[in-house]
Amino acid sequence: MSRRQLVVGNWKMHGSRPANALLLDGVLQARPFHCDVAVCVPFPFLSETAVTLSGSDVRWGAQDCSAHDQGAYTGEVSAAMLHEFGCRYVIVGHSERRALHGEADALVADKAKAALARGLTPIVCVGETLAQREAGETEAVVKRQLAAVVQTVAHCAGEMVVAYEPVWAIGTGLTATPEQAQAVHALLRGQLRAAVADRADDMKILYGGSVKPDNAATLFAQPDIDGGLIGGAALKAADFVAICRATRQP
Ligand code: PGA
Repeated sequence: MSRRQLVVGNWKMHGSRPANALLLDGVLQARPFHCDVAVCVPFPFLSETAVTLSGSDVRWGAQDCSAHDQGAYTGEVSAAMLHEFGCRYVIVGHSERRALHGEADALVADKAKAALARGLTPIVCVGETLAQREAGETEAVVKRQLAAVVQTVAHCAGEMVVAYEPVWAIGTGLTATPEQAQAVHALLRGQLRAAVADRADDMKILYGGSVKPDNAATLFAQPDIDGGLIGGAALKAADFVAICRATRQP
């Protein structure tokens, strides 16, 4: 498989200026990587992260953006603002935002569209809850979540990154088996192929949910898994670096 893999750290609401400096230094010292590497940091840290990482091949991004371009939306941050700070990526539709902030498929789709309009790559998260998996609804849920975005962004769909993150695996220490993850990734790629034809073969579909140094390599060896979206293990340089090194050689 020729797709270059991508590992993205999702710091969530963690970090401090001294801790970030230490973490980013550890990542920079470990270069070069044979995969693409990025960190998605809390908004207030973007400026400093941009200064630290600019000139390196490690990219940065945010964890959410507004669906609106500008206006009276207190507390929101637009894709244009993220672009000004050199962001390459923005996570949209993370399950924590869907569950804790009531984000529905249509809003996630509008956020992905806003990101693409400003030249950012949205990392669109999809994934089922444990109850949905046990009810045999995994396929229907992830297809519905992805379809909403694909319909809204239309011909730009080929420019997104997709992340399959089973909700029951996030922060729990439970990981989908490589086979379980691969089955969903293959399904998602098939859905993308229906939308953007052969471009789907170049798109990255990341796996997320308790990826650790000791399980990363077997996940990343699956044909339709193109890297990872890493939460907890992205907060320690040694773990994050080990996960980056567990990617396939291109
Ligand atoms: P985790 O989080 O690696 O801590 O499970 C992944 C994510 O939520 O993106």
